[in-house]
Amino acid sequence: MVRNMAKLTHPNPEFGYAMIDMNDWATCLTLDVIAIAALGRDLGIIQKPNNPLKSAYDEAFRESPRKAAMFFLAYCRMEWIMDYFPWNLDSRDRAATLFLRKFCRDAIQDKRRSLHLTPATTDTKTPDLLSKLIASGTLTDDQLVEQLLSILAAGHETVAATLSWSIYLLATHQSIQDRLRAEVRSSVDVTEMDIEDEKMAELLRSLPLLNAVCAETIRIYPSVPLTPRVAVRDTSILDTFVPKNTSVMIAPGALNRSSRLWGSVANKFTPDQWINHDTGTFNSHGCSKSTYSMSTFLHGKRGCIGSEYAKAELRSMIAAMVCCFKMELQDPDEPVIPTGKIVARPCAKNGTFTVKIEHV
Ligand code: HEM
Repeated sequence: MVRNMAKLTHPNPEFGYAMIDMNDWATCLTLDVIAIAALGRDLGIIQKPNNPLKSAYDEAFRESPRKAAMFFLAYCRMEWIMDYFPWNLDSRDRAATLFLRKFCRDAIQDKRRSLHLTPATTDTKTPDLLSKLIASGTLTDDQLVEQLLSILAAGHETVAATLSWSIYLLATHQSIQDRLRAEVRSSVDVTEMDIEDEKMAELLRSLPLLNAVCAETIRIYPSVPLTPRVAVRDTSILDTFVPKNTSVMIAPGALNRSSRLWGSVANKFTPDQWINHDTGTFNSHGCSKSTYSMSTFLHGKRGCIGSEYAKAELRSMIAAMVCCFKMELQDPDEPVIPTGKIVARPCAKNGTFTVKIEHV
């Protein structure tokens, strides 16, 4: 990954740095990583970004006024209004959805063929998820397609957004970027980083500032800032009565920045709050009193099942980026705002997030 990243970012010989659209890059990286984890296949999208899987996801996540209206109505539980308007997905969306389903179905058939040659069992050490799901024998092919669609989408878009936000925060806090580079370089040779190297993963997990930067990015810019829920019984939130069937919005984007929970640093990027002053080790709650103050992955039965995976992936990608490159915003005066319907990414007015990167 690191070698490919370095190869792909040829600096402009005249200026000595390269400009990349970080959002696009992050999607290529995280799609490559989730394809290895879920399917056991290296798709090499970072080298060839015009890959059809990437194009299908770009299309599926593309914003349009019609989609915005559909999301709004779904959030308000007024889906019935959609029945009165010809608001079906347009042909580009439909083509993308059909492609993604066919991609998953083909991947399942290929995997069944290869497992037929080399049978797997439920305790097979094969690292990819699809082999394990097939070996468990509990799901039909239709169910496997649904599972793969969820894992591939939920497992790349959210992490890509968080990676972009972490680069935004490091680019706007150069002293933290320098400290992080020093910490990672003093412990890890990133050129040797291998996605399946468990020792490297353990080492990265032990670095306090790296974990602190990840945790603080996840806190301050949760990639899913709003999630709808419906009360299944009469209940109350604080002192407010909430009757059964009420629609409720859970807002990690607000909870994670509440000054009641996070005090004076609520709105500031403060990675050091995640490091114990006395021991210098990472702590799991920052300066808040409880791990429940952070709701990015939600909690309980319907919380994110990929949270630990996401954190490990972020640690690796941020460590690799910060070791290889000095990162700055293309235009520090240009406002960057959260943009997107379900997943929020950093975007400038022109719809991209361009970062200046220099090999260091
Ligand atoms: C920073 C990265 C991530 C964030 C912020 C995030 C956030 C969330 C949130 C808020 C939910 C609950 C959605 C809801 O119920 O409305 C969720 C569910 C889910 N996430 Fe993640 N996620 C991340 C990464 C991942 C990864 C890497 C994977 C897979 C490898 C994953 C797989 C899933 C799945 C399958 C669900 C559905 C669980 C269920 O319905 O029971 N997520 N995620």
